[in-house]
Amino acid sequence: MKVLLVGGGGREHALAWKLVSSPLLDELVVTPGNAGTRLMAGQPLPAARCRLARVLALGRGGAPVRHEAGGPEELCRRERFDLVVVGPEAPLAAGLADRLEVPVFGPSQRAAEIESSKSFSKDFMLRHGIPTARHRSFTDLEQARAHVTGVDYPVVLKASGLAAGKGVLLPEPGRATLEALQGLMQTEAGHEVVIEERLEGREVSLMGFCDGERVLPMRAVRDHKRLLDGDRGPNTGGMGAVSLEDEVGEWCALALEPAVRGLKAEGRPFVGVLYAGLMLTPDGLRVLEYNCRFGDPETQVLMALLESDLLEVCLACARGRLEEARFGPGQAACVVMAAQGYPDTPRTGDAIDLGADNPDSVVFHAGTKLVEDRILTAGGRVLGVTGLGSGLEQALANAYRRVGAIHFEGAHYRSDIGRTA
Ligand code: AMP
Ligand code: GLY
Repeated sequence: MKVLLVGGGGREHALAWKLVSSPLLDELVVTPGNAGTRLMAGQPLPAARCRLARVLALGRGGAPVRHEAGGPEELCRRERFDLVVVGPEAPLAAGLADRLEVPVFGPSQRAAEIESSKSFSKDFMLRHGIPTARHRSFTDLEQARAHVTGVDYPVVLKASGLAAGKGVLLPEPGRATLEALQGLMQTEAGHEVVIEERLEGREVSLMGFCDGERVLPMRAVRDHKRLLDGDRGPNTGGMGAVSLEDEVGEWCALALEPAVRGLKAEGRPFVGVLYAGLMLTPDGLRVLEYNCRFGDPETQVLMALLESDLLEVCLACARGRLEEARFGPGQAACVVMAAQGYPDTPRTGDAIDLGADNPDSVVFHAGTKLVEDRILTAGGRVLGVTGLGSGLEQALANAYRRVGAIHFEGAHYRSDIGRTA
């Protein structure tokens, strides 16, 4: 089979790494990819260096990987693909899956609205009895200000549109909130704003494979959104992730199943990965948000633990015949190494020394590019160093040991991944 993978971040390197282990794969084409996917071209299966048997047990590996600079639509006009796997939300929100005439793993534009319009998403949750924080949406600044001043609880401000992980503000109550509101409503994504009750609790990412009708949950993962140790500093796209041991059946029944049923009932069947950002509050589970795609860096952890053939699962979803997605019992931890200046103004162009391999870890590239045979930084989150182990301690030790061997100017990372509550 010939598969096209769209995207160029850490998530896509992890997806490519897993896809090439499928015995069904004849060729993987990546657009635009990064240095990590580029280094895969013509390489043996990277997983083969991992000692863990369940990672080793996969496929023949080594299927050819090729890069193309063209957009996915142009590539699909030129070549025949059996499946297109779309990583990021932006092309899905722009209707890519609707325009391609081949099977796509990724939702239609209308189904993707569950992420691309927070206002739609919140109203959808209410319509389908999905537990979520109290909220109201506004397009008028004066009405929004009056609402913020009138409520007797702290609030979170969210741009309704896509804002690349920068659309959620948690200002101090009072004047700071009113100033933040004004600033947010001046941005394109925040022209409509959702004002939401601020919740306290443990945060969990739960993703499920969906075929339009059914959903099969993955392992639960904990992301680390804040830039600095101790969950301080600004929100980022995610500075690290660890797998959790929690049973996910009940969370899936509360957060994923009613959403997949509701989307189908509203004529927007969801195919691909549905991501629920959960807050486990003293009053029970609340859905903070839905995403219409794999999380990043959660995917780096999930691909290290997925036992099933990813290509088989994606094909089954695209054909409406999802039956099984199995995860291993071990643990994985991903530590993101970021560029100097991330998240505001990341510096690029620094040479990366990847150091020596460690057999129980995989380095997934995110913001990297290959120039001649040098690997250079090319984005804010540069690498997702992922360790595996039978327990979380071991997985974290393997990840941090690998981090210690990697060098680039200005590199920074959190040293407490997996340690916060
Ligand atoms: P979102 O993009 O909606 O997941 O928001 C980004 C981050 O903001 C979340 O991961 C939470 O840490 C935080 N957040 C979002 N909504 C709330 C809320 N209602 N209460 C407290 N924190 C929130
Ligand atoms: N790591 C959070 C996200 O992918 O949205």
